[in-house]
Amino acid sequence: MPEPIAIRLTVNGRPREATVEPRLLLIDLLRDVLEVTGPHVGCDTSSCGACTVLLDGRTVKACTLFAAQADGREVLTVEGLAKDGELHPLQQAFWDNHGLQCGYCTPGMLMSAYYLLSQIPNPTEAQVRHFIAGNLCRCTGYQNIVKAILDAAAKMQGGVGGTAPSPPGRGLG
Ligand code: FES
Ligand code: FES
Repeated sequence: MPEPIAIRLTVNGRPREATVEPRLLLIDLLRDVLEVTGPHVGCDTSSCGACTVLLDGRTVKACTLFAAQADGREVLTVEGLAKDGELHPLQQAFWDNHGLQCGYCTPGMLMSAYYLLSQIPNPTEAQVRHFIAGNLCRCTGYQNIVKAILDAAAKMQGGVGGTAPSPPGRGLG
């Protein structure tokens, strides 16, 4: 049996460490070991996007990476969006525009939207639809999600700030 691996990473700005089996997935590290349960598991086969998080500023589907691959890196999940008790403008826009129903897809959808606005602060509707193409929603029909992201972009007008990565383009997930 392979030896466990000691890893250190930053999750939502907080240094975390764990000793993990090499086969442990990043999503299972987050949810089951570190108790960061915002990212959801919808399929476990990289189809649904419910597990989307940012890894060093770029979107990844956390069910497609091993936890050990996050060693030394920064993870941002939906829990890291609100600051000082205030919803992130994207979260507020989802609320205002009824961008969710059951909410299962929402943590991943928000992270893909966050990544989009870090790359393209004022996206077109087509760009919004392109960036959330890897996130499935079984409830909303997407219309209000797109509306919410465009609303957030208009209200923010300067991008999400902070963790904007390079190079530009769609995420890894
Ligand atoms: S759980 Fe569905 S893409 Fe990861
Ligand atoms: S709100 Fe239910 S899956 Fe998107």
